[in-house]
Amino acid sequence: MGERVGSWLSGLEARAARSMSTPLREYVEHGSGEGHTTGEATRAWRSLRLRPHVLRDVTDVDLGVTLLGRPSRLPWGVAPTSLQRAVHPDGEVATARATAAAGGLMVVSSNAGSTFAEIAATGVDWWLQVYLPSDRTLVGPLLDRAVEAGAGAVVLTVDTPVVATWYPTEGLIWDLADPAWTRVNFGPGHEGQPGTEKALDLGPHDIDWLRERTGLPVVVKGVLRGDDARRCVQAGAAAVWVSTHGGRQLDRVLTTAQALLEVRAAVGAEAEVYVDGGLRDGIDVLSALASGADAVFVGRPVLHALVEGEAGVARWHAAMSAETGEAMRLAGCRSVADTRDLLAPPANDGLNRL
Ligand SMILES: Cc1cc2nc3c(=O)[nH]c(=O)nc-3n(C[C@H](O)[C@H](O)[C@H](O)COP(=O)(O)O)c2cc1C
Repeated sequence: MGERVGSWLSGLEARAARSMSTPLREYVEHGSGEGHTTGEATRAWRSLRLRPHVLRDVTDVDLGVTLLGRPSRLPWGVAPTSLQRAVHPDGEVATARATAAAGGLMVVSSNAGSTFAEIAATGVDWWLQVYLPSDRTLVGPLLDRAVEAGAGAVVLTVDTPVVATWYPTEGLIWDLADPAWTRVNFGPGHEGQPGTEKALDLGPHDIDWLRERTGLPVVVKGVLRGDDARRCVQAGAAAVWVSTHGGRQLDRVLTTAQALLEVRAAVGAEAEVYVDGGLRDGIDVLSALASGADAVFVGRPVLHALVEGEAGVARWHAAMSAETGEAMRLAGCRSVADTRDLLAPPANDGLNRL
């Protein structure tokens, strides 16, 4: 058999690596601890097996979904990631322009290096991601700026009471990064105030508080269990986001491909359910939709594409659209709603287990 020729998407990480400094590359790619969770994520999606339909008209395929009441032309969104301006000078603005043109959704990290106003000016649909500090009042100005600039939801990241340890070989990017690349949406003098450290006492009441404080729907990011997902929904969350933080928090947790099934079953139709972690191609997206996700989010590949600025991210959305559209046609699906019965039950031969 001849050598397999890979797609543009499959070569993306290796190409990006050639343009990044070692500290930046390590910052983007790393997982915490020994990297078990990061390493298993993509493999878990690829261990799932699908039952395609045949004899269905797939002339027109629609990738669109409705997320928190707003249409998105794509069933994936851009996950929040920091240091986009270290990857490309245009940073979040380039990501936002390309995502707006593709008709998709972008979640903006609270550590972003571009202002909410600059991002909103691209016309992109965007949500704010936040960590809550131990003194909740200190996040108020950030929330007000996001509401004023038109954020459509607040994504509360709950898997980071502390930042998990990892071991860079050549120094931490944060020590090398230009301060202008990060946290530009906090007011001057925010850093170093007592109470800005990440809250160790997060609870369901914080979901309700955020909703009241902003008037926006709250999405809870970093949930891996059905019982926790139910607590979020009971506390007023509009959506639950299954995530291991790209394997950057507790190492050796279950894969998001596995957790998604439990969370979807626990939440039912009461709230939306999203998933991220290791989703790299169109069949990965289809597998997540078939497992019950209302939408998926993608972190590192967008950064890899952003090495080439807005054009790179535009090409990434286009390649993902082409692959997902092809996978849906081959599976006999004309819409995301058609994908829900595709997942094959676990086989006895272990094929669709990690
Ligand atoms: C470089 C980098 C920075 C990140 N920064 C944040 C962040 O600021 N807030 C957050 O909630 N998640 C952050 N994440 C996690 C992503 O939102 C997402 O959960 C994860 O990257 C998904 O996995 P994937 O990279 O395999 O697609 C970051 C991930 C990476 C790789």
